[in-house]
Amino acid sequence: MKMKKQVAKLIEQHGTPLFILDHSKLRQNYRTFKKNLPRVQCYYAVKANNHPEIIQTLFLEGSSFDVASYNEFMQIYEYIKHFEEKDQEFFIWDKIIFSNTIKDKETLRKIKRYRPLVTFDNSDELKKIKTCCDTAGLILRLKVPDTGSQVEMSSKFGAEPGDADALIRQAHEEGLVIEGLSFHVGSQCTNFDNYTAALAITAEILHDARKKGYHLKFIDIGGGFPVPYDSQVPEFEKLANLINTECQRLFPADIEILAEPGRFLAATAATLITEIIGKSRRDGKIFYYINDGVYHTFSGVIFDHWLPNFTAFKNGPKEVCAVVGQTCDSFDKISQSVQLPNNLEIGDYLLTDNIGAYSIASSTKFNGFDGARIIHTNLKR
Ligand SMILES: Cc1ncc(COP(=O)(O)O)c(C=O)c1O
Repeated sequence: MKMKKQVAKLIEQHGTPLFILDHSKLRQNYRTFKKNLPRVQCYYAVKANNHPEIIQTLFLEGSSFDVASYNEFMQIYEYIKHFEEKDQEFFIWDKIIFSNTIKDKETLRKIKRYRPLVTFDNSDELKKIKTCCDTAGLILRLKVPDTGSQVEMSSKFGAEPGDADALIRQAHEEGLVIEGLSFHVGSQCTNFDNYTAALAITAEILHDARKKGYHLKFIDIGGGFPVPYDSQVPEFEKLANLINTECQRLFPADIEILAEPGRFLAATAATLITEIIGKSRRDGKIFYYINDGVYHTFSGVIFDHWLPNFTAFKNGPKEVCAVVGQTCDSFDKISQSVQLPNNLEIGDYLLTDNIGAYSIASSTKFNGFDGARIIHTNLKR
C-alpha cells in the first residue's frame, strides 16, 4: 500500500502515533443505524469512546446517550446546561440512560435531582436506589445468552429471567417505578441467535408483567451490534431485519425500543498511524517495536479481546512477524502473528483501521508515554 498523500501530510504535521477520527464516518454510522432500525431510539454508549468531539458530533446528529458514570453524564450535561429547566428535564428523561447496573450511593444521590432512567439487576441495588435515588425510572436488565460474542456480559450482569417477576414486584412494593426491561447479548455479537433468544425471553417477561398490571413501556436491546472488522462478520443489515421483524412480532406498538450501540458507531470512525521505532529478530521471528501499545491505543487487545490489523506502506516479501509496544513490559505485545513485509525499517509507518472503540477510552500513561495524538477530520457537517 502506497502512503496516501493526505496521510503523509498529517504525519508531517502532527507526528505519530496519530489517531485520526473521521466525523463523517461517525455520522454515517449513526445514520445507518437509524435507517435500518427505524423503531429504535439510539443511545450512544459513551464508554466506547468518550472523546468530547465524538459526543458533540452525535449530539448534533440528535443521538441519545448511554452513560456508565456521573462523569459521563456530566459530559452530556455540558451540552444541555443552557437549556431551560423543563427542557433539560425532558432531555435527561428522554435521551439519557444510566446503563451501569451497579451505581455507588454517592452517584445515586447526585443524580436524584435529574429523575434519571437507570438499570438494575438485583434486590440490593433496588434497596440502594430506594434510599438514594427514589426519583429514578427503573429498567430491569436480564441475563441473556451471549454465546460467541467477542466480549461476554452475562457472567457479570443481568437478573436470571426466573427472578424477574419477584424483582418487579419488589420494586413496586418499594414504591419505585419499573419502566422496562433490558439486555446485552455481548459486545461484537456475530451470533444473531443471541438476539433472537434475548428478545423472546424479554417478551415473555414483558407480557407476564403487563398481565399482572405493571405497565412496562420500554425494551432496551443493549449493544453488541457487530463491526465489519473482517469479511467473516455478518452484515448489520441482516441483524437489523431480524430485530425489526422480531420486535414487530413480539412487542405491541406502544412499547418503545431503545438500543445502546457503542462499537458500531465509533469503531470504524478512527485510524491509527504508528511508527516502527525498533526491529529485532527473536527466535527467528521479526519483532517490530512501535510507538504505541497495549497500555495505550491498543488497550482493546487486552480489555476488548480485539485483534488489530496492520498495513504497511511498503511492499516486500511477507512473513509472520510480531508487533509489540514501546513500554518496558514484556506483556506489551500487540500481536504475535501479523503478515508484514520483512523489509520494514525503523522510521517506517503502520496503519491500523477500525480502532475507534475501546481504544483511547481505556488508554493509560504507563511508562510515561502520553498515548496517541488525536486529530479530527470532517468535523463540520
Ligand atoms: C450496558 C452496556 N450497554 C452498551 C454497551 C456498548 O456495547 P457495544 O459496544 O457492544 O455496542 C456496553 C459495553 O460494554 C454496555 O456495558
